[in-house]
Amino acid sequence: MNILILGGGGREHALAWAFAQNPKCDRLFCAPGNAGIAEEATCVALDILDGAKVLEFVWANDIEFVMVGPEAPLAEGVADVLRAAGVATFGPGRGAARLEASKAFTKEICAACGAPTAASETFTDPDAARAYVRAQGAPIVVKADGLAAGKGVTVAMELGEAEAALDAIFAEGPGARVVVEAFMSGEEASLFVVADGEALLLLGTAQDHKRAFDGDEGPNTGGMGAYSPAPVMTAGVTERALAEIVRPTLAEMARRGTPYQGVLYAGLMIEDGAPRLVEYNVRFGDPEAQVLAMRLGAQLLDVCLACAEGELGSARANFADDHAITVVVAAEGYPGEVRRGEPIGLAETADPRVKVFHAGTKAVDGQLVSAGGRVLNATARAATLAEARDLAYGAAEAVDWPGGFFRRDIGWRALGRG
Ligand code: GLY
Repeated sequence: MNILILGGGGREHALAWAFAQNPKCDRLFCAPGNAGIAEEATCVALDILDGAKVLEFVWANDIEFVMVGPEAPLAEGVADVLRAAGVATFGPGRGAARLEASKAFTKEICAACGAPTAASETFTDPDAARAYVRAQGAPIVVKADGLAAGKGVTVAMELGEAEAALDAIFAEGPGARVVVEAFMSGEEASLFVVADGEALLLLGTAQDHKRAFDGDEGPNTGGMGAYSPAPVMTAGVTERALAEIVRPTLAEMARRGTPYQGVLYAGLMIEDGAPRLVEYNVRFGDPEAQVLAMRLGAQLLDVCLACAEGELGSARANFADDHAITVVVAAEGYPGEVRRGEPIGLAETADPRVKVFHAGTKAVDGQLVSAGGRVLNATARAATLAEARDLAYGAAEAVDWPGGFFRRDIGWRALGRG
């Protein structure tokens, strides 16, 4: 079958790499793609927020399955347009995508279904928000309500930080909405499930590293590295997260007439074995998709396809007893301003346990150059996390790019458990 992937980051490269290995995949297209994806798929310039344009492309190229990578097209309702036209599509419609597009909506769903999460209040009035924050004191968490590409959350350890976060959000103008919630302590981890409106399939666990620098220092980023599985997500914690958070959420979404279809990425805080919801995302994480794809390989297409076709009940995800890790190589200055267009030397390895996924890259006159903040994801899979870590760092070190940097301690928490 011909397949179209929407998106152009490391997540989409990992998806394209996994899909291309599956014999079901004939022609693979990706919009817009990147230089690495171009080795697996035909990259096309397409406005992926415009459902009608995407549908036109689908019809013109006999596409039978569309995989939506990022959240923005989902929040725009691109999956609704495609499904209404009878195209098998992976990803929730606009109504269900609100689980990521509105933090206030997620809080409402948690309250309705009893899913444990931090206590919160939602504000549209800046003065009321400031008064609430002062009354609560720090530490406290301030979240912009809408999509903010991973940058809308401030975990403020001091009151001044929380007030500055409120100022920044309300400076966006009228209509700005903020969720202020209690600080949660514990260990963060992510749970990935695929749901088709009826059945649910557990796809794995992972842990991201959100801060830019070693030791979890520096500004928040989209993620500087990840590994799977996350040891804190024991079978017991996973079962509790499914029973207390994910299944009730899916039931509530179905009850409201917006059944959830796609991958639901639950960001969790775990303390004393009890999971609480931090946030939902309605797509695979980036870079968490890279480690899940590395572990699942070609079967990722079977699972995503079964989900899109409403046949998840008979689908399986077979995990080996293995570990995967990815190290993000970013441009100096990320998550702030970065230089683009810097030449990168990349020696491909023949080792099947290692893959360098591309995020912000492009090819200019045959030369690979940087084209974004997060640029490459050195990824490896092995029998132990330590072995996978050594392989991934070997690949990151081999990147010839003086303008790049990466954290040296990805996986520290799990590796430190011994
Ligand atoms: N790595 C965090 C995210 O994808 O939102």
